[in-house]
Amino acid sequence: MFYEPRKGHGLSRDPFKALVTPRPIGWFTTLNEDGGVNIGPYSYFNAVADDPPFVMFSSGAREDVAVKDSARNAAARGEFVHNLVTFDLKDAMNATSEEVPYGTEEAALAGLELAPCTLVKTPRIAAAVASFECRYHSTVEIPQNGQDGPTLMVLGEVIGIHIRDSALKDSRFDPEAERIIARLGYANYAVVGGTFRMLRPGITDA
Ligand SMILES: Cc1cc2nc3c(=O)[nH]c(=O)nc-3n(C[C@H](O)[C@H](O)[C@H](O)COP(=O)(O)O)c2cc1C
Repeated sequence: MFYEPRKGHGLSRDPFKALVTPRPIGWFTTLNEDGGVNIGPYSYFNAVADDPPFVMFSSGAREDVAVKDSARNAAARGEFVHNLVTFDLKDAMNATSEEVPYGTEEAALAGLELAPCTLVKTPRIAAAVASFECRYHSTVEIPQNGQDGPTLMVLGEVIGIHIRDSALKDSRFDPEAERIIARLGYANYAVVGGTFRMLRPGITDA
């Protein structure tokens, strides 16, 4: 089949997200206006540069929430923290996707403990095997169909990285051993597995 997204796909479900898989899950802690901690997962998330490292996530608008809490807080506070999601944290991650009123303490809702960060005021999720402390850079507005407002793509520089010491073997982090999860299409997820090595032409080690 061929379809033009603006004209519709003719299927019972939109295949777009299933065709862009697996997507890493950005799981963000941010500070609310009153200092409380917000938590939200985003699979429109990725690294976009590595020297210095930058990440992005994008937040769709809805009628009731033109700007979701993670995007709003990241811009207002100038910082956000990404926490890596492993299989053991899948239910807690999912619980934090519930669309609750601004200011809800989502750590308590999901049974998560928080731990302090080093360079930013926002805490990280203590059980996460790795966390990125990010300094907000900018927001790019992406046109969104309908009247709810644009999708907002938030960019941030990763200024500090926490990795659990036990997750480093011979100076390497192994996402398969740590059972990192990723988002597929529909309600499907994957655990990182079936990995293999392949060096680029002319490269002898990596
Ligand atoms: C695995 C997963 C990935 C998600 N990815 C996105 C996304 O990329 N963009 C988005 O706007 N919402 C996404 N959502 C929905 C948000 O998590 C949900 O709207 C949540 O309430 C936002 O939290 P916040 O307002 O506290 O930031 C995702 C939900 C799940 C479970």
